[in-house]
Amino acid sequence: MDSTATGAALLDQLPPPLPAARVIALNQPKADLHTPRSYTWNGWSFDVPPGVFIPGWTSRLVHERLLDGRIETRFRRYAAMGAGLGVEAVAAGVRGAREIYALDVHPESVATAARHYARLVGERPDTRLVPVVGDVFDALPAGVKLDVVTFNPPAVSQPVSEDPDVVRNVCVGAPLLARFFAQLAERDLLAPGGEVYVIVSNTADLRTIVGDALDRGFTAEIDHLHDWQDGVLTFLLKFQRAPKSMTQPIRGGLA
Ligand SMILES: C[S@@+](CC[C@H](N)C(=O)[O-])C[C@H]1O[C@@H](n2cnc3c(N)ncnc32)[C@H](O)[C@@H]1O
Repeated sequence: MDSTATGAALLDQLPPPLPAARVIALNQPKADLHTPRSYTWNGWSFDVPPGVFIPGWTSRLVHERLLDGRIETRFRRYAAMGAGLGVEAVAAGVRGAREIYALDVHPESVATAARHYARLVGERPDTRLVPVVGDVFDALPAGVKLDVVTFNPPAVSQPVSEDPDVVRNVCVGAPLLARFFAQLAERDLLAPGGEVYVIVSNTADLRTIVGDALDRGFTAEIDHLHDWQDGVLTFLLKFQRAPKSMTQPIRGGLA
């Protein structure tokens, strides 16, 4: 795999989803989702109410990059899509983001993220948290521009459960990402130079996800590729708005 490939060349190289049985086996829901849990990271303790996603190894690939600035939020306007417990919001607050939009469709997740932010970051002169409940960017106030967005989406390609909380956290699938990129493009949410980081593995339909982003006029590249040595490959993908001159239909879709 050429990790420097971009655009259509990247699309061609992305692996197909793992076999369905393997995807389902890898993503068996934990029995304790509907119970209060706790989580510790970077010396911070978080309480995890029922239904809120508890971060895993994939989450931490993003969290550590937000904290050390490999995904830079300092002085920038940042959206943590699918904010969950609030670790991204806390890391960006400590890093010194200018505006932090903690977005999630799950009201309890947004409330939890805001609570953790208040306790672990608190009031800072040049940093502001804006908690937002809604489907992707639906409830983001009009006129907001974003310099950086992250999303660890529930992109698993197989329905691993009928429990709506498991589905919301794990396996909504590629159509959610299509809506995410459609709104970013149609509402012109990215500021010039804006960056969108999405972390997805080959338990998801990577080609559809990246193809939808290209069709919406984004460039795509691999920021980081992690091989878990069990067949699972996790891609931290970086998307930016393509200059108008570069925008062309990749699969006969929208330019
Ligand atoms: C895999 S969890 C990631 C949580 C956290 N960002 C992390 O990495 O630990 C996915 C998150 O996306 C949220 N989510 C699912 N569908 C959504 C939607 N349509 N709009 C916004 N957030 C959504 C879920 O509620 C959940 O908090």
